[in-house]
Amino acid sequence: MLTEYHCHVLPGIDDGSDSVETSLAMLSLMQAQGVERVVFTPHFYAHREASVEAFLEKRQAAFEAIRERSPIREMHLGAEVAIEHGLSELPGIEKLAVSGTRMILLELPYREFRPWMPEEVYNLTAEFGLKAVMAHIHRYLAYYNKEEMERILDLNAVFQINNEAFGSLSQRSFVKKLIRQEYPLVFGSDAHDMKERRPNWDLLLRKCDSAVIEQANRRLERYRTE
Ligand SMILES: [Fe+2]
Repeated sequence: MLTEYHCHVLPGIDDGSDSVETSLAMLSLMQAQGVERVVFTPHFYAHREASVEAFLEKRQAAFEAIRERSPIREMHLGAEVAIEHGLSELPGIEKLAVSGTRMILLELPYREFRPWMPEEVYNLTAEFGLKAVMAHIHRYLAYYNKEEMERILDLNAVFQINNEAFGSLSQRSFVKKLIRQEYPLVFGSDAHDMKERRPNWDLLLRKCDSAVIEQANRRLERYRTE
């Protein structure tokens, strides 16, 4: 069951889809590309939101706007949670886990490595028994040296790969190394719209070994809570 683990499809909640029509077009394209299950992961920035509860209400309203018309029937609600200093102590943070699972998608900041970054991930997952899914880990090759990347890879986490990584030589070779070393991976389009950042599952299916994709699809089952 081809599973989208990272996308900005819910309408009007972040810098992703700007309308119900765009959301439905994105879902139809995903379906045409073979996606059978989708995890919605709008951005969550603790410093911008009034509270986790307020975010969850907004997310629910955005979901209700497309729920009945979605061509993909298995849908989970999550968030792409930006790692900030003190995030693990934010009240209700555990509610941002992917619905029906104990996975939580975490986005490292786009800046140089700091030791508090893996510490926040560790604290959050240890405190609530969650499984961290580190968003588009290949993007941080631009910010981290080898040792710093190792610190992140040493987290007992799942690593999410954007399909687009297979379109870049350096990122693809990094991802292939992760595959060879048997890190637990999941894939996502990180789609935001129907333009430059549209669903791109065709690229992944063309470039990545089907057994690796299958393993990634099944990973959600492993962390199901219901
Ligand atoms: Fe994203």
